[in-house]
Amino acid sequence: MKRIIFTGKGGVGKTTILSTVARLLAVEGHRVLVVDCDPSMNLAMSLGIPIAQVIALAEDKSHLQETLGATLDDRPKMSNGEITLAIREYIIQAADGVNLIVMGTVPHGGSGCLCSPITLVKFLINYLTSNTEEFDFIMVDSQAGVEILGRGLSAEFDLSMVITEPTPKSIEVAKHSMKLSRDLGVKKQMVIVNMAEDEGECQSIADALDLNGDLIDVVRYDPQVVEADKKGIHLLDLLSTSNSSPTALQDILRIKKRMEAD
Ligand SMILES: Nc1ncnc2c1ncn2[C@@H]1O[C@H](COP(=O)(O)OP(=O)(O)OP(=O)(O)O)[C@@H](O)[C@H]1O
Ligand SMILES: [Mg+2]
Repeated sequence: MKRIIFTGKGGVGKTTILSTVARLLAVEGHRVLVVDCDPSMNLAMSLGIPIAQVIALAEDKSHLQETLGATLDDRPKMSNGEITLAIREYIIQAADGVNLIVMGTVPHGGSGCLCSPITLVKFLINYLTSNTEEFDFIMVDSQAGVEILGRGLSAEFDLSMVITEPTPKSIEVAKHSMKLSRDLGVKKQMVIVNMAEDEGECQSIADALDLNGDLIDVVRYDPQVVEADKKGIHLLDLLSTSNSSPTALQDILRIKKRMEAD
């Protein structure tokens, strides 16, 4: 099982790239779980699930947090089978057979922080990693910025996907993200320069980030990504009915292969 986290500044393309890679892997027969840890809950919509149909972990009607917390403390209250069933209550079948779990959002103004749902996601991923072989890939989409790394959710994950635009502000956030992932013992990092004009933009950004064996790649700017977003459909569904050259998709396909290999 490969655990992968996507981070980066707001609007750099985390959800676009993650949802596309997830669907491509699922179509190939991989068992993919994606976890939306962004309180904006965009990933569900990107994968064809209307927000009204989402049952979020933050609602936690099955006392999953208490159960998983106790399990990790070696005080099991439920059998592994029962815990797996409780987790399944939150798994939504999304496009191309991708399994989706949504962390949830802030329900009303002044209702507090997201520490508790983030901790629940951490327990859940730890549980799935240590006790089951249900998934080949678990991919976490995060809120803009680095807070999720501060909360240690991705400790010892296999791969950190750091998405950046070719702009100084975005690169600064990427730099910070990479440092925090290193602190957390994430095994590998891959920087994606999204909305790049061409592949050459990689080199100057690689220099700015002072990569130390970390991988870097690009996804080119592609108006079809914007068109799909405006139509409220996924890029893959737009391209399935279009004859134009799939610029961004070509890049994402290459990146998916590298993610599988590394
Ligand atoms: N390669 C690309 N070419 C053109 N537009 C793109 C590309 N990648 C993403 N976009 C556009 O950029 C915007 C932000 O993308 P997306 O929602 O995936 O970013 P995000 O990092 O998940 O944002 P947030 O921080 O709000 O969660 C969207 O309008 C999307 O269509
Ligand atoms: Mg997003």
